[in-house]
Amino acid sequence: MVQTIHTVDTSLDIPNIQEELAQGRPQKILKFALKKFDNIAIAFSGAEDVILIDMAVKIRPDVNVFCLDTGRLHPETYGFIDQVRNHYNLNIELLFPDPEQVEGLVREKGLFSFYKDGHKECCSIRKVRPLRRKLSTLDAWVTGQRQDQSQTRSNLPVIQHDGAFSTEMHTLVKFNPLSNWTSDQVWQYIRAYEVPFNPLHSQGFVSIGCAPCTRSILPHQHERQGRWWWENPDDKECGLHATNTAQK
Ligand code: ADX
Ligand code: SF4
Repeated sequence: MVQTIHTVDTSLDIPNIQEELAQGRPQKILKFALKKFDNIAIAFSGAEDVILIDMAVKIRPDVNVFCLDTGRLHPETYGFIDQVRNHYNLNIELLFPDPEQVEGLVREKGLFSFYKDGHKECCSIRKVRPLRRKLSTLDAWVTGQRQDQSQTRSNLPVIQHDGAFSTEMHTLVKFNPLSNWTSDQVWQYIRAYEVPFNPLHSQGFVSIGCAPCTRSILPHQHERQGRWWWENPDDKECGLHATNTAQK
């Protein structure tokens, strides 16, 4: 089998670009990312990160977008993913976990092991491994993470080397164009540009992940309180963004 070796773009001076783009608008950061990389995709969670798609299609109408379908998303989220697909005329790629691994976990521990054992094992099978598979085919990816989402994201750069998913043979660059935007700015954008949004947002859901691990929050609660609420608040990364919690 011939293996493709993805080489580092040595002309990319990440610290310098970070300095240049750090205060830039998300559109400027996305424009840079899409111009610099052909083989790039947006990771869309089915929540308010839809604004990345709205911004990106204005730059590249057939931009690559993928969703990790854990099999445990809310029905509203599945409906929304399809709505976005039709609205932007995009072939959103859905990535599924390995059925044997899911079957093994569920056979051994049941459907709700995460409430007892923590979410990492299930997230690893349903999210992180399918993501790793996808990222091994890309040169760069784009996420909707923001600094205001959690303590672990408070220093999130707009561009970074993805140390969690790069390998010796394959260097991966990660863009977080919304890093410096607040939740308010995201929602101003959604209203101003009439961007479709997940109906769960109208029912008190702010941060949206899998159904059994997401709940609505009360006014003035922090958005991450609606995610994995039975766990330590400092440990609410599921492995997609392991670079945020890696020892620096
Ligand atoms: S998580 O790691 O805690 O689940 P969060 O829900 O805050 O992540 O989303 C942050 C970003 O991670 C999203 O904007 C998106 O880029 C990516 N992401 C999260 N969940 C998914 C998913 N199911 N499919 C694709 N990307 C996702
Ligand atoms: Fe499993 Fe919950 Fe993680 Fe979804 S968020 S993959 S259901 S532990």
